[in-house]
Amino acid sequence: MGNPNDSAFDDPAGTWNRRFSGDDYLFGTAPNNWLREHAGQWQAGQRVLCVADGEGRNSVWLAARGLRVDAFDIAEAGVAKARRLAAAQGVAVNFKVAACDDYDWPRAAYDGVAAIFVQFADPALRGRLFDHIVQSLKPGGVLVLQGYTPKQLDYRTGGPPVLSHLYTEAMLRDAFAGMELLALREYEAVIEEGSGHKGRSALIGLVARRPR
Ligand SMILES: C[S@@+](CC[C@H](N)C(=O)[O-])C[C@H]1O[C@@H](n2cnc3c(N)ncnc32)[C@H](O)[C@@H]1O
Repeated sequence: MGNPNDSAFDDPAGTWNRRFSGDDYLFGTAPNNWLREHAGQWQAGQRVLCVADGEGRNSVWLAARGLRVDAFDIAEAGVAKARRLAAAQGVAVNFKVAACDDYDWPRAAYDGVAAIFVQFADPALRGRLFDHIVQSLKPGGVLVLQGYTPKQLDYRTGGPPVLSHLYTEAMLRDAFAGMELLALREYEAVIEEGSGHKGRSALIGLVARRPR
């Protein structure tokens, strides 16, 4: 998925609109497992943001659990499919088409943020994105984040094949130094998330709370 020499990072909206142009859901319609395991951090009725939500598998699942969900993504084609998934499952999600630099981030508004495979971000963009995420959480709000580690460059079963976009425990510890770490784990697993994330994968998961 992606080649460092293609336009993926120069033209993210065009690239992802093309990737989402088929009828199938590239990462499936089931939620990400790390999110499923940690979504119990949030109670029904609480407000959660899904960052770069793609075709909606995570936001729709969270809405079906009774959460009030905002979601955005840069790719209009992904958001259109996300809206169809929400309608088919009879749930409401407040979807927006936006790049993470342009999203109208509220401050101290969310009980939770889900950032699942948002490794389109190079180090500079990632710094701004992580800062927005932390600032958008209420005190006591919880971030659930999933990504790939550098070991994923050996597997190439998903994610950007670019070292500087990948996460290590040390990097996430540093990036979220102001947060209370509830879980931080590098692990390997065989994942089956549509055709986009498929096979043995080098993963990292973080759960962190903004201090009260
Ligand atoms: C690997 S996909 C993950 C989608 C979704 N989070 C999931 O787990 O199914 C990465 C997503 O990031 C979106 N994206 C890429 N660059 C972006 C940007 N600058 N701002 C917002 N979304 C972006 C893509 O359109 C794509 O949906």
